[in-house]
Amino acid sequence: MRLVVIANRLPVTVKSLDPVKFERSPGGLVSGIETFIKKARISDWVWMGWGGSNLRKKDVQKIKELLLNKHRCLPAYVPEKIMNKFYNGFCNRTLWPLFHSMPTLATYEKSTWESYIEVNRIFLKTLLENLEVGKETQIWIHDYHLMLLPGMLREVHPEAKIGFFLHIPFPPPEIYAQFPWRREILEGLLGADLIGFHTYEYTINFLRSLSRILGIEHSMGELVYLDRLLKVDTFPMGIDFELFNSIKGVSKKTKAIKQALGNKKIVFSVDRLDYTKGIYNRLLAFEDFLRRREDWRGKVVLILNVVPSREGVEQYQSMKRQIEEKVAQINGTFGSVEWVPVLYHYKSLSVEDLVAHYKASDVLLVTPIKDGMNLIAKEFVASRRDLRGVLVLSEFAGSSRELGEALVVNPNSVEELSKAIELALEMPPEEQESRLRIMQDRLKRYDVLKWGSEFLETLKGIASKRDTLKTK
Ligand code: G6P
Repeated sequence: MRLVVIANRLPVTVKSLDPVKFERSPGGLVSGIETFIKKARISDWVWMGWGGSNLRKKDVQKIKELLLNKHRCLPAYVPEKIMNKFYNGFCNRTLWPLFHSMPTLATYEKSTWESYIEVNRIFLKTLLENLEVGKETQIWIHDYHLMLLPGMLREVHPEAKIGFFLHIPFPPPEIYAQFPWRREILEGLLGADLIGFHTYEYTINFLRSLSRILGIEHSMGELVYLDRLLKVDTFPMGIDFELFNSIKGVSKKTKAIKQALGNKKIVFSVDRLDYTKGIYNRLLAFEDFLRRREDWRGKVVLILNVVPSREGVEQYQSMKRQIEEKVAQINGTFGSVEWVPVLYHYKSLSVEDLVAHYKASDVLLVTPIKDGMNLIAKEFVASRRDLRGVLVLSEFAGSSRELGEALVVNPNSVEELSKAIELALEMPPEEQESRLRIMQDRLKRYDVLKWGSEFLETLKGIASKRDTLKTK
């Protein structure tokens, strides 16, 4: 069976054309699917996605061959102007805030909606022109950028096996109903045979929206749309447990981080710069902790690593300013020549550097206001082979459903968060160990291989059930 993965980002993007250079793309989606393909030993696969802003129309053919031969990637060319409206506009100013239940941040513009339709059409056209969609092909479409594509593809290929997975939350129907294009998006998604979500909550939100907006009811997640059977289900995405648990060659880096900070305790935090991640509240909580617990001053450091993201969207720029001002204020108030309370870094980290930070830390703060899954929390737990370290985790991260032994907090309460930092720093080693052990066992059992395999098996099952019903 051939697997065609379709996502907005390719695992590599064109960095320069003269000479031709590719670079790895950021984000958990890319690394998760890539790891799955490798671990599942899928031999016949291809990945289609946006070629990147450096790809010019006249170079498409040349780059396409290179990308296909070297990386099995099929680039879709999207003119810059359309891409800008699509990505910075509809995807990240409309869908992203709305789906993260922050509707007051969402803007609704007809012209960016039109660019969304156009980009989904460009993806369809690129797919049809370059790949065969036969009986032996599974098409797996990913995330909020491409929610119309399943429906568009179904019209052309009624027999195709199409799976769709959403990597972000699906909002409650009361919020989703505010969306002007609520029908079109649902109808687009219903082109798939299988629609998957990270948590049961998002699955239910979707099913309730279907009922409220299209009047479609389901039975155990199965439903009929335009005479075709399809399924909606939950598949919490896992990580490559083995990789994070037994990564080699990072001990030097881990030691270096610890040494550089003397004997101070380390609280670590790493996210893409995004208003959904709760970075500002995290800083307020750390400030509150330092204010309350004078005895900890000079003995603990917060390493705040913020990964640049979506710099073309205004809300992201203002968030960056707010964070930087707060860091300066905390350091200005509490710091001294011997001690800088918050070490702020604005850059992305390699996997080795990331794991070295996980291993050097005493506490990891993952406190989003809303997050589809959050794999950082899972990676940290897996990397602590020494069974030391405490995870402080927001109850609004999808991963909190599987990591109940973390210190689970409501990130909107600065007091609760500040208390959790205190508890985490003072947690006895035996308790750290027992919490981590249970979480590690769970993550080992449901890793990224399990996630992808279950999704594709379910897709196969529902597509054949659909075919059987049709022939009866
Ligand atoms: C989230 C989304 C992904 C996206 C990633 C990085 O995890 O679910 O689809 O790729 O963020 O965001 P970016 O906008 O840089 O692709």
